[in-house]
Amino acid sequence: MLSSSLNDAIVILLNLILTRAKHWQKSQLLLETKTIRPFSFSFNTSDYRILHMDQDQGRLYLGSREYLVSLDMQNVNKEPLIIHWPATAQRKGECKLTGKGGQGECANFVRLIEPWNRTHLYTCGTGAYKPICTFINRGWRAEEYLFRLVPGYVDSGKGKSPYDPRQENAAALINGNLYAGVHVDFMGTDPAIFRTLGDRPAVRTEQYDSRWLNEPVFIKIQKIPDSAEKNDDKLYFFFREKSLDASGGSAPSVLARVGRVCLNDDGGQRSLVNKWTTFLKARLVCSVIGADGVETYFDELRDVFIQRTHDERNPIVYAVFSTAGSVFKGSAVCVYSMADIRNVFNGPFSHKHGHNYQWTPYTGKIPYPRPGTCPGGTFTPDLHTTKAFSDEAVNFVRAHPLMYQPIYPIHKRPLVVRTGVDYRFTTIAVDLVDAVDGRYEVLFLGTDRGTVQKVIVLPKDISTTEELILEEVEIFKVQNQHFLFLSCGLQQQLYVSSERGLTQVSLHRCAVYGKACSDCCLARDPYCAWDGEHCSAFTPATKRRSRRQDIKHGDPLRQCRGFNAKVEKRLRETVQFGVEGSSAFLECQPRSPQASVKWLYQKDGKPRKVVRLSRDKDVLKTGHGILLKSLTQLDAGLYHCLATENNFKHTVARISLRILDREIVDALTETLLTMSRPCAPSLCPSSRQTRSI
Ligand SMILES: *[C@@H]1O[C@H](CO)[C@@H](O)[C@H](O)[C@H]1NC(C)=O
Ligand SMILES: *[C@@H]1O[C@H](CO)[C@@H](O)[C@H](O)[C@H]1NC(C)=O
Repeated sequence: MLSSSLNDAIVILLNLILTRAKHWQKSQLLLETKTIRPFSFSFNTSDYRILHMDQDQGRLYLGSREYLVSLDMQNVNKEPLIIHWPATAQRKGECKLTGKGGQGECANFVRLIEPWNRTHLYTCGTGAYKPICTFINRGWRAEEYLFRLVPGYVDSGKGKSPYDPRQENAAALINGNLYAGVHVDFMGTDPAIFRTLGDRPAVRTEQYDSRWLNEPVFIKIQKIPDSAEKNDDKLYFFFREKSLDASGGSAPSVLARVGRVCLNDDGGQRSLVNKWTTFLKARLVCSVIGADGVETYFDELRDVFIQRTHDERNPIVYAVFSTAGSVFKGSAVCVYSMADIRNVFNGPFSHKHGHNYQWTPYTGKIPYPRPGTCPGGTFTPDLHTTKAFSDEAVNFVRAHPLMYQPIYPIHKRPLVVRTGVDYRFTTIAVDLVDAVDGRYEVLFLGTDRGTVQKVIVLPKDISTTEELILEEVEIFKVQNQHFLFLSCGLQQQLYVSSERGLTQVSLHRCAVYGKACSDCCLARDPYCAWDGEHCSAFTPATKRRSRRQDIKHGDPLRQCRGFNAKVEKRLRETVQFGVEGSSAFLECQPRSPQASVKWLYQKDGKPRKVVRLSRDKDVLKTGHGILLKSLTQLDAGLYHCLATENNFKHTVARISLRILDREIVDALTETLLTMSRPCAPSLCPSSRQTRSI
């Protein structure tokens, strides 16, 4: 029998080994590998944001605290171009005098980089609570390695960049006009959708009117054409805001919104002067109905990814939500079609009505032109400017900016849902991948624990899909990530930025799926295929008959005939020693989180039998293997770890366990201890090891 203290010691030692192993894995991930490359130039900055991807020049533009960075998209560590753009010492002093700066906010946080013309970029930052903007000269071509501020030029950043670096903003430069969702004052209490720059008049949302915007958080701004007629072009903006009915008990406190204005809106003539006269907004719904019939809403919009299609009027809108409040932690991804979004904007307006002041659909007469219609467009060819709109039409918009119907996602349910987990999704990027058996959506979902999940959506039948997590990559070793920005480039790379830095991740990470055809096939990663020897990058261009890939079914029996036997034979038997009375940990980690694991035990060539996990509570199963406690000579034998996935069984590990006699080991240990005290250099294995490290 073992004394309980020795038993404790073994458990502690085992824990230590396991924790070590985990740490080792973590630091491995953060080092540069063939598929993960962290931006490794360090300078005194923080708060990295991917602000623009320039596919033409193959450059990635980042903004951070007091710095602007231009990176090579192929290799972010190849000769980065860096601009130091601090707020002046005088401005920082003034900022501190106003009582700000307790958390280092009295600095210039870069919040906007947009292309201006062929050679110049326009950029804005918080300027230590006094937003500033300027031009950057990046030259005609990437080969010029040009990246510098236009000397002596500074513009006001009011209505372009927030004052407070903790306030989110969104912006887009279109035809020389800058459209921004931003807080426009020092106190951060005046949020607006603002148009500045260019030849059109400055226009904004109605000020301090909670019907228009109620403590919004701006997420994304995007121009989406409505028709072939340029005058119909609209700007869509995605945000979340406080609900007007928040005090009403069961009503949600936060709502996800999509709003829109016409690009050619120049404001009203008599009322809404220099304010949008085409501003409308609608609720985005993302919810699931539980088994009990209760509907759970994900209202806290976190990020939006707009996937272009061959028709520029109909991109697909992917949105990431989390639950509002802290009681129930959950996130979801919902997908919306532009047709559904437009239908809601063409539907009834919302109206507060009746003695209990309920929201109802507006049923009265709707003025001409219908609110939200652009001047000079398909339906209003005779009205050339919003200044010609009737007072009636303008006043209607002022009082009824909200649509009555909410916008539901495609199939009326989320594409991906996570509940009962201790993390939330914060960001999304989507890639459409052509595989052997069709085109698949791969989602990259950033989490607030610094990881990115690679998720594939597989069609089950016409209206249902199933999702599969291909892998979860740890990018930053930080918990409670405030944000994580994701962008997918034509270079087949994913770029992830956060408070701490930037990392480039290859979309093809096929080596992680192991060395067997079956593992490669079971992974169902459309970026990878079995080439006869390895799990390697698959691109439709390199399509060959020998490439084995089966995303739809993940059936290795069909795809890997002949290949598996080879691997199983190649799988070497490992020998492991255990000491009588102590514990042994047999490691077995299947590649896929979807696999179920079974252990078989075989003695002296007899038939294999299942290792009972209840053997006097002495066998403990963990995600990494099994722990056999209080070993006896009877435990010696061959252990097979079998993984089953998608009805496919294969052996992951084969371990021959040999049991050493306790007394012999004790005697040996005794001898070793005497020998090592004092340690003769030639006999001391540990000192030799230390030297070689
Ligand atoms: C780094 O920047 C912070 C904030 O601007 C500043 O307080 C600190 O002194 C800087 N550190 C160094 C080493 O320059
Ligand atoms: C781009 O804009 C900048 C700033 O207005 C200007 O100096 C430059 O000449 C422009 N370049 C081209 C090619 O138009």
